[in-house]
Amino acid sequence: MSKTLKIILWTLAGLLCLLLPGLYNPLNLVRYEIKAKGLTNPICIVLVTDLHSCAYGPDQRELLDAIDREKPDLILLGGDIYDDDLPDGNTLTFLKGVAPQYPCYYVPGNHEYWRDDFSEKMAELDSLGVHRIAGQMVSVDVRGDRLNLCGLDDPYAWEGKGAKGPADHSFRDQLARLGALSKGGAYMILLTHRPECFDLYASYDFDLVLAGHAHGGQWRIPGIVNGLFAPNQGLFPKYAGGRYEQSGTEMIVSRGLARESTKAPRIYNRPELVILDLRADQ
Ligand SMILES: [Fe+2]
Repeated sequence: MSKTLKIILWTLAGLLCLLLPGLYNPLNLVRYEIKAKGLTNPICIVLVTDLHSCAYGPDQRELLDAIDREKPDLILLGGDIYDDDLPDGNTLTFLKGVAPQYPCYYVPGNHEYWRDDFSEKMAELDSLGVHRIAGQMVSVDVRGDRLNLCGLDDPYAWEGKGAKGPADHSFRDQLARLGALSKGGAYMILLTHRPECFDLYASYDFDLVLAGHAHGGQWRIPGIVNGLFAPNQGLFPKYAGGRYEQSGTEMIVSRGLARESTKAPRIYNRPELVILDLRADQ
């Protein structure tokens, strides 16, 4: 064996050793403590995004048990809970597991809008008791405090299947309408599928923005590259996953729960369930 071939083989073996642990992708619980103005009692919110009808153990028990252990006050579902390719069984098992137990609020993502049976799926959510809040603000009383939840539609609500690019004027109009409600008063949360419009969201007075869609940028090098590629952001996405702040607005981007639905595997980018511990801002 030539010296060059030996070097190539050792290099490949080294790369394989680095890569293999990154392909191990069990569910990850990611917890954020949020200082929330005006709150008098702690509130626990679970953020679920981008399930894409993936499986988390028999009858989704892995996911449902993780949520039950947190005993959340609310569950916020940030879109792409259904997929437009995989069958709906895992999504329905999950929704039937959470909806009778917890108040659930939902905004659709692009993959829900890409389905021909979008209206039927939304009716299904209604029948399960999941509240759709896209285009609305709802006030929710939790443990003696009031939260205002604003839901923003995905840009595909207006653009239709096959259209490219995010926000057009209808999306911006809806955001502006919700943003106009965000002046003062109760703690304001904007639930949206899309993280890439954070500049726009931060121009209003939302306290907290919750998003998904980026799938953590699919491949990561922890501590060096926080995501390689995300839809609508391209290479090295700014909002792949994590905590962001701009002009007094915080944004949490979930890396989402998509696993077997994606063609490329996740690398060092575990699917995540986000736990938000809201605490009084003293
Ligand atoms: Fe998405």
